[in-house]
Amino acid sequence: MNEAFSFEDVLIEPQYSDIESRSEISISSRLGDSVFRLPIISAPMDTVTESAMVRAIGECGGLGIIHRYNSIDHQVELVASSAGLGIKRGAAVGVNGDFLERAQALVAAGARIICVDVAHGHHIKVKRALGELKSVLPSTVHLMAGNVATLDAFNDLSDWGADSIRVGIGSGAVCSTRVQTGHGMPTLQSVANCARSDRDAVLIADGGIRTSGDMVKALAAGADFVMLGSLLAGTDETPGDVIDTIEGPKKAYRGMASKEAQSDWRGSVSSIEGVAHVVPYRGPVSEVLNEMAVGIRSGLSYSGARSIQELQARARFIRQTGAGAVESAPHIKAR
Ligand code: XMP
Repeated sequence: MNEAFSFEDVLIEPQYSDIESRSEISISSRLGDSVFRLPIISAPMDTVTESAMVRAIGECGGLGIIHRYNSIDHQVELVASSAGLGIKRGAAVGVNGDFLERAQALVAAGARIICVDVAHGHHIKVKRALGELKSVLPSTVHLMAGNVATLDAFNDLSDWGADSIRVGIGSGAVCSTRVQTGHGMPTLQSVANCARSDRDAVLIADGGIRTSGDMVKALAAGADFVMLGSLLAGTDETPGDVIDTIEGPKKAYRGMASKEAQSDWRGSVSSIEGVAHVVPYRGPVSEVLNEMAVGIRSGLSYSGARSIQELQARARFIRQTGAGAVESAPHIKAR
């Protein structure tokens, strides 16, 4: 049986650095013909990304992908109303029913990135969908697809026409896929395996990222971008109202395969592979993103790297023990 490592199982060895200021460090990353100042993408989930998130994350240098759990008209409206400031807009589609018509309408409304968004991306329906999308959409449209967990899947999706690929199955904060199905792979391991690909598809680490340290590890292991759900949940720009609770203000965050999400968007429930939760309300997403950017830059400086590419070339991972993992987080004891 192969071993597979999670974010918490590893650390990156600090190295000599001649970087005198973090302003010398670029954390920009390329997706197709666009360069993003921040290698962060917001997840296409109905408690994470609609117009306000696309605009806010776009202004901070990242990218938002509008979720597909709505009518074509509504999603088109969300794409249209997120226009602003050279902001690139992404929108998700499925692989069944109206997905081709939906994708064409989204592109007509200004989406430049179409994300084929399914739980198990290494699937014949994704192959067919990518082929059909390629044949009807302008060649300037960037096709993102996923999710996958293995190098074979990464290579196949690339060969089927995906320009970027979401890597990570079952790691997300509100995922229960592994409990329900017994399948999955720690995101960090999937990223490291997929990064061995000789294809040039962009690699997006997706699911289970809880800190800027996890982002640095994902980028060092070979990701070009990280996709975030829970770390952006609870901010002003996520859909949904602030809920007053005795523990303070909260907002909803739920897996798209949770019972609650399925019954809202599909009217019925099949395999439940996610959970619904509330998370603390956290104010403007720009503050959260700025903090992450500072953490990522600082991470690069510990490896003496001025860019994500340099980080990938230089980073040396070590495995830590359980005691090491305890030591790695604040552990002061109350006296
Ligand atoms: P984080 O950890 O950032 O993960 O909250 C976000 C990613 O979780 C995935 N996702 C799901 N996975 N069941 C799953 O197994 C679900 O219901 C579900 N909803 C979202 C998705 O890849 C997202 O980007």
